[in-house]
Amino acid sequence: MARDDWNPRKLPDLSGKRYLVTGSNAGLGYFASLQLASAGAHVIMTGRSPQRLATARASVERALPDGVGSVETLLLDTSNLGSVRAAAATARGRKPLHGLLLNAGVVHPPRQRRTTPDGHEMIFATNVLGHYALAGELLIALAAGRGRMVWVGSVSTSIWKYEPTDIELVDDYSPWRAYVQSKVATTSLGLEADDRLRAASVPVSSLVAHPGYSTSGRTRDIAGINEPTRMTRFTDNLQAAVTQSKERGAWPLIRALVDPDATGGEFYGPAGVLRGGPRVATPAAVTRDPEVAARLWSYCEQTTRTPWPYLKASRTRAKG
Ligand SMILES: NC(=O)c1ccc[n+]([C@@H]2O[C@H](COP(=O)([O-])OP(=O)(O)OC[C@H]3O[C@@H](n4cnc5c(N)ncnc54)[C@H](OP(=O)(O)O)[C@@H]3O)[C@@H](O)[C@H]2O)c1
Repeated sequence: MARDDWNPRKLPDLSGKRYLVTGSNAGLGYFASLQLASAGAHVIMTGRSPQRLATARASVERALPDGVGSVETLLLDTSNLGSVRAAAATARGRKPLHGLLLNAGVVHPPRQRRTTPDGHEMIFATNVLGHYALAGELLIALAAGRGRMVWVGSVSTSIWKYEPTDIELVDDYSPWRAYVQSKVATTSLGLEADDRLRAASVPVSSLVAHPGYSTSGRTRDIAGINEPTRMTRFTDNLQAAVTQSKERGAWPLIRALVDPDATGGEFYGPAGVLRGGPRVATPAAVTRDPEVAARLWSYCEQTTRTPWPYLKASRTRAKG
């Protein structure tokens, strides 16, 4: 169990470490990338738009002190399995990976069910399937770095009790159900991954973190990254007592990724549930149900045709 004197503003020195962040051109992923690089890490910032990625990279580089940390960009659309595999092949390179932040997500799903070119329900494909496949594709690189993967959940899973029986919501789609159910899945898979990795003696841990309630209207203006309208600022500030900035929302994700005392299978979130410093928290009961986890795992494994390479990963020597 991690200590409680963690200071999110003073991270350990991450020089020489390599991290990949999905959805890093905006929101939590942008701030997570900035916080990692500011502690000396090399960050592979990924996203689906070359322009938005270039803007985010330039913004992080401007904010870094001279000689501290570095970033590169890589196109990665988590809703597209071809894009996931291509990006993973590039990211693997010959270098180890010390951490993988599975952050990208559609947070405002469409009213009507939509499918991706691969034929999957869009929210599930983006938030869950792409991340399951990416983590499997990068498992050996993570094993070489004795690294961690962090999945991003949501406090909404403790409020709305959606059990994923109709996993891709063929019969019972609603935007909110699609979102919450996708977060049940990321949390459940993240906890299940740690059990499976331990059982197979793979030197990689899996943790889950959630950012509480973090809004753009409570986040500082950054050109091209966070430019809420005056109305959004006004309405978000009305909820100030229960919200925080995305900069702070990234804290539990970063703690799960880099706190040396954090261990696999832990769940991190803000101390005040919706806001506050990053602490160990309790995931929703449905996300700890072994039957739900087994159902989701087998669905992702078969659908993406990406069985995780446990044996090879367990035999991977530490590098770097
Ligand atoms: N903010 C909160 O209060 C909150 C609460 C609970 C959980 N979360 C979770 O935290 C994560 C980040 O949320 P956020 O608040 O930072 O949202 P955000 O500001 O909307 O950022 C979402 C990020 O995901 C990217 N993304 C969306 N679809 C993608 C795709 N197909 N491929 C690659 N990247 C894609 C977006 O890129 P584009 O610019 O290309 O769209 C953007 O970089 C999500 O997983 C969300 O579910 C957030």
